[in-house]
Amino acid sequence: MKFIVLTLFKEMFEAFVNTSIIKRAIEKGLISIEVIDIRSFTKDKHNRVDFPPYGGGSGMIISAEPLSAAIDYSIEKLSYENKKIEIIYMSPRGKVLNYNISKQMASSNSNYIIICGHYEGIDERIIEEYNIKEISIGDYVLTGGELAGQVLMDSIIRLLPGVINEESLLEESHTNNLLEYPQYTKPYDFRGRKVPDVLISGHHKNIADYRKQESIRITKKFRPDLIDKYEKTNNSKKEGN
Ligand code: ADE
Repeated sequence: MKFIVLTLFKEMFEAFVNTSIIKRAIEKGLISIEVIDIRSFTKDKHNRVDFPPYGGGSGMIISAEPLSAAIDYSIEKLSYENKKIEIIYMSPRGKVLNYNISKQMASSNSNYIIICGHYEGIDERIIEEYNIKEISIGDYVLTGGELAGQVLMDSIIRLLPGVINEESLLEESHTNNLLEYPQYTKPYDFRGRKVPDVLISGHHKNIADYRKQESIRITKKFRPDLIDKYEKTNNSKKEGN
C-alpha cells in the first residue's frame, strides 16, 4: 500500500516514518510513505500557498492552485500501478474515524493521497474537483491535519497483513466491539498487588474464559455504548443470522 502525504510541514512526519512498527513495515516493503511539500508547487513569486478567505474572516486558506498541482503530481506518480487511488482530506468536519473505517481502508487494496491542511483549511473547490473524502479523528480542532494524518495511517498500517502479529490483532480492543482485557507481566507481586491466580495456572481454557469476562467487565465500565453492539452481534451469531 502506498501513501502520498501532502503537507506544508514535512518535518512533522520524520519521526513517524523512522520509528518502530511503521519503520519496519517500510523496510519490509509492505508500505511506502512519500511526504510532499505543497509549497514546492506554488507559482507565486513569494512562494505563498495561503491567502485570506473571500468574504472576509480570520485565518488563511490554502489556495487551490498549488494544492491541485500537488494532487495531480501524486495521482500521476501512483497511476502506473493498477490500483484505485483514494484522496483523503484530514478535516474536523469529516466522518469520525473508527476501527471499521480503518479496517475497510486496510482491506481496500487502494493507494492513498492524504491531504493535511493547516491554517483555516483548503479551498472548497478542491474537495469538489477531486471528489475527496474527509476524515476527522475526533470532535475537536487541531492546528493542522498532520497529526490526524499520522493517526489515520497508523490505524490502517497496523492492520495490513505482515505488519504485526495477527494474533494480537484478534484480541485487541474494538475488534469485536469489546475492549481488551487487562494485561500483566513481571514482577508477580507489585507493591502487594499480585497477578490474578488464573493467569499463572497454565489452564488455557480458564485463562480464555477469564479474559473474556474481563473484556466484558472493562467494556461495560469504560464504554457501555459498545456493549449493546457486542450483544447484538453475539446474539445474531448464536442465532446463525
Ligand atoms: N484537522 C484539524 N482538526 C482535525 C480533526 N479533528 N481531525 C482531522 N483533521 C483535523
